[in-house]
Amino acid sequence: MPRAHIELDRRAVIAPVRRRTFGSFVEHLGRCVYTGLYEPEHPSANDDGFRMDVVELVKELGSTTIRYPGGNFVSGFRWEDSVGPREKRPVRRDLAWHSLESNQVGLDEFARWLELTGSELMLAVNVATRGILPALDLLEYANHPSGTALSDLRIANGTPDPHNVRMWCLGNEMDGPWQTGFMTAEDYGKIAARTAAAMKMADKDLELVVCGSSGSGMPTFGDWERIVLEHTYDHVDYVSCHAYYQEYDGDLGSFLASSVDMDYFIDTVVATADHVGHKKRSNKKIDISFDEWNVWYLKEHQESEEVNTEWRYAPRQLEDKYSVADAVVVGNLLMTLLRHSDRVTSASLAQLVNVIAPIMTEPGGPAWRQTTFYPFSITSRLASGEVIRPVIEAPTYGTARHGEASVIDAVATVDEDRAAVFLVNRDLAEPAQITIDVRSLGSSHVTEAVTLADADVYAKNTLADQHRVAPSANTSATLADGMLTIELPPVSWTAIALR
Ligand code: AHR
Repeated sequence: MPRAHIELDRRAVIAPVRRRTFGSFVEHLGRCVYTGLYEPEHPSANDDGFRMDVVELVKELGSTTIRYPGGNFVSGFRWEDSVGPREKRPVRRDLAWHSLESNQVGLDEFARWLELTGSELMLAVNVATRGILPALDLLEYANHPSGTALSDLRIANGTPDPHNVRMWCLGNEMDGPWQTGFMTAEDYGKIAARTAAAMKMADKDLELVVCGSSGSGMPTFGDWERIVLEHTYDHVDYVSCHAYYQEYDGDLGSFLASSVDMDYFIDTVVATADHVGHKKRSNKKIDISFDEWNVWYLKEHQESEEVNTEWRYAPRQLEDKYSVADAVVVGNLLMTLLRHSDRVTSASLAQLVNVIAPIMTEPGGPAWRQTTFYPFSITSRLASGEVIRPVIEAPTYGTARHGEASVIDAVATVDEDRAAVFLVNRDLAEPAQITIDVRSLGSSHVTEAVTLADADVYAKNTLADQHRVAPSANTSATLADGMLTIELPPVSWTAIALR
């Protein structure tokens, strides 16, 4: 049985836990909005047409900031289409996902939905195919209190209070050839700088996110960040990172070590941003908005015949069903984001409902939790105070994709009266025996210890079997004389709460 020892020192503080780490993402894509969040005919729908069964699950998930309305969708979007009387809103083609957009849900409705869930809005503007003025118009409509054409239009549309959106994305994945209106780094850097500067003339306290590479595998990765930041450094606050992982060709060992790649990705983008900052002799630091991350079986989608040839409303698209192994990876990626809380100060699990999502719905039917729901909701609930860096002594194993990886990974958070430790065991076959030195935390007892694992690592929750996978109490956890011991099953994710 692999053994590991973890040392927790409450002075080894990385940064405060950022509530925005637990953000998510709602795109007008497939059934995320329509028949996901919004289904007026559903028995649980409120007066706005929003499914309250989904609202309850989103609250339980504990997602904080929600990025909206895309994604690739935003690069063909005219925000004006989605406000005002619903019967007058135009139907448009969405080229990104080859589907029809009815515009029945727009900014004002989505903001009301966010109030139900208690989440913060993070808005993306269309830099790709529009320009500075439409971005400024959206900002005026969303945030100006009253007495101007667009703020008064918002009021006339039934929203008297401004939405007061703080975080704004300057487009989406502008390096990707799949993006409507994609650009070179030079072209995007220039237009992003001008758009950002203009938006800050309206409100200097906005928090602006410039697009980084759409993935670390892009041929322009690194150079893209450098060039874009050379243009935008003084005007923006964040650079975005996007990363999706999947198991390739049955190589579960590599897949379970995906967070090694995320670590490297974050370190590289931080180094690039700081390089630009130093060259500019700037005291300012650019943070990372990791505003798309998840497991996504993209290769299978690309290879399948799932190509939309017709123009349809809300087709079933990218409805990945997640396994126990996928949930272990999601839990581990979230641990990595926490460990980088000094520079990753906002993140968005992509996405929230139906589309590569922790929550699934059936039109007219139930809503349920995917396996990936659990590590996210439990971490969001238990992580508080400050993130501390654990010292992990554990065996390693070789992976084809990510080199040598630790069998055990961990991160911890400490607050005044409570602490939490999050762990994964990446061993494919063996349970692991862990001892954790928690003396410096002053913790006296374990209040909760839960593990997500299953004899079948590919077990999933489905419409027919919605509760097949759920975390269960880990009864092996004991704490005596400041030493916590616990056994972790193979391919598992665990959370321990201490008081
Ligand atoms: O989240 C799905 C898609 O992935 C988003 O629209 C896009 O930004 C990314 O490529």
